[in-house]
Amino acid sequence: MTITTHRRQFLSIFGRWLAAIGLFAILPPKKAAPQSVRQILGASMKLPKPNTKGQLTVEQAIQQRRTVRAYSQQLISLEGLSQLLWSAQGITGRRGLKRAAPSAGALYPMDLYAVVGHRAVNQLEAGVYHYDPQEHGLTMVNKQDLRKVVARACLSQMWMASAPIHLVITAEYQRITGKYGQRGIRYAFIEAGHIGQNLFLQAEALGLKAGIVGAYHDEKLIEIMAIPRTHEPLLVMPIGYAA
Ligand SMILES: Cc1cc2nc3c(=O)[nH]c(=O)nc-3n(C[C@H](O)[C@H](O)[C@H](O)COP(=O)(O)O)c2cc1C
Repeated sequence: MTITTHRRQFLSIFGRWLAAIGLFAILPPKKAAPQSVRQILGASMKLPKPNTKGQLTVEQAIQQRRTVRAYSQQLISLEGLSQLLWSAQGITGRRGLKRAAPSAGALYPMDLYAVVGHRAVNQLEAGVYHYDPQEHGLTMVNKQDLRKVVARACLSQMWMASAPIHLVITAEYQRITGKYGQRGIRYAFIEAGHIGQNLFLQAEALGLKAGIVGAYHDEKLIEIMAIPRTHEPLLVMPIGYAA
C-alpha cells in the first residue's frame, strides 16, 4: 500500500467522522425522559408485604363484583391498602420489572395515587399519596383530606366522599407514545381498564367494595391533587366497606 492510498483512506475516514459530527449537531436534541414521582419527591414509606393467598376464588370475586356507591365509616387496614395497590401496579416478576397488570411493551405508563381520608386508613394520615411499585411504598404528595373536593371535581358525585379512599389511575403518555405513536394512548386506556378490574376483584377478595368513576374535570383533578400535569387521570375508584 502506497503513502497516497494511506492518505486517501485517512481522509475518507476523517471525512465520514466530520460528517457524523455535523449530522449530530443539526439533529434535534432527544426529549428528556419525564422524571418519575420518586425522583421529584424522594424516598417512599414502605408498605406491609402483599399477600398472595386469599380466601375467595377468582370466580366468586367476578360473580360478586358490583359498582358500589355507598360506604360505611369502617377503617381500611394498612395491609388492605397495601394489597389493593399491589393488585393494581405491584411488582410480580422475579427480576423486578413485570407488574400485576399487563402493559404494552412493558413500558408502564401508569401511576397510581391514593386519596386517603381522615381516620380512613389505619396508621395513615389523610392526604394524597403516590404509589411506588419498585419500593412497594407510598410518598405523600398532599397533606389534606381531599375526598369531598375530589367528589365535587367528579361532577359533584358526592356519594364518593363516603368512601375511605379514592384510588386514582393516571397515565403519562410520553412513556408509551415514543414507541407506539398515537396508538400508545389507546394502549394506556386499555391498561387502565386492566388495573381497574384488578382493583375491583382484589377489593372483593378483601371483603371491600369498589366504585368506578370516569366523569370528572381532568384539569381540576390534577390541580386539586397537586400531581404532575403530565399524569392524566383515567379512572377514579372509591373503595371501602359497603354501607
Ligand atoms: C369507564 C367507566 C366510567 C364510569 N363512570 C362512572 C361514573 O362517573 N359514575 C358512576 O356512578 N358510575 C360510573 N361507572 C360505573 C357504571 O355505571 C357501572 O359499571 C355500570 O352501571 C354496571 O354496573 P356494575 O359495575 O355494578 O356491574 C363507570 C364505569 C366505567 C367502566
